[in-house]
Amino acid sequence: MNSVISLRGVVKTFGSLRALNGVDLDVRSGEILTILGPSGAGKSTLLRIMNMLIKPDMGQVIFEGKNLGSLTKKELRHVRSRIGFVFQHFNLFSHLTALDNVAIGLVKVKGMKWQSAREIAMEYLEKVDLADKARNYPSQLSGGQKQRVAIARALAMEPDIILFDEPTSALDPSLVGEVLRVMKRLAAEGRTMVVVTHEIGFARGVATRIVYMEKGKVVEEADPEVFFTSPAAAGAQKFLRSIMENAV
Ligand SMILES: Nc1ncnc2c1ncn2[C@@H]1O[C@H](COP(=O)(O)OP(=O)(O)O)[C@@H](O)[C@H]1O
Ligand SMILES: [Mg+2]
Repeated sequence: MNSVISLRGVVKTFGSLRALNGVDLDVRSGEILTILGPSGAGKSTLLRIMNMLIKPDMGQVIFEGKNLGSLTKKELRHVRSRIGFVFQHFNLFSHLTALDNVAIGLVKVKGMKWQSAREIAMEYLEKVDLADKARNYPSQLSGGQKQRVAIARALAMEPDIILFDEPTSALDPSLVGEVLRVMKRLAAEGRTMVVVTHEIGFARGVATRIVYMEKGKVVEEADPEVFFTSPAAAGAQKFLRSIMENAV
């Protein structure tokens, strides 16, 4: 299968801290790759490097055959528009309606007129069951609704891959389900997704592969069923026990 994004020997340091310490990873087309690991393992740094929000100190990020480190700013902007990103804290524009939060990328990045951008944005709001909230501002939406707007915004760009960084961690537990439901729908459509999450149900039921990280390294890669029944890494066993306990 073709790789959408590949990382080769990626190292990232912040001062004296090695947040990523030599990561090799391939994300293949259609895969739902779920990244697990304790806080501070380097998961967010890894996602940010995948779309070059931050640059690695060493190693390569290869997107559809191109080494992103060698692209011009303009080329990189184009590539980045093909990589969707959903953040833990939504990152919506507070002065724009839900509809315009989805439309703005189409206007600013794809050069569309507002009217046609809004028509397309509406289709994507419908897709996340939020057509009736199109005129609401973020302050008039629940956390789960905000995150679904953020997902619609990512989808509207028709990306080749979507990266999710703990998309449900900032949500009230009662709102987690509505966001996971939308993510499951996207997975069922065969989209390529990389999901950092502590939602074990999602990881076990939807992921096609688990990547377990610790201290800036990929410690284990496994089939979900194998990982959840008998993880190889000692740290993974401990990690799973700790999140299972928290879930009870
Ligand atoms: N911008 C930054 N400046 C300094 N240290 C950072 C920065 N971003 C992340 N780190 C550090 O890098 C390590 C990995 O962080 P992160 O990728 O956020 O981990 P995770 O998402 O797995 O919790 C942590 O020790 C964190 O404090
Ligand atoms: Mg993180």
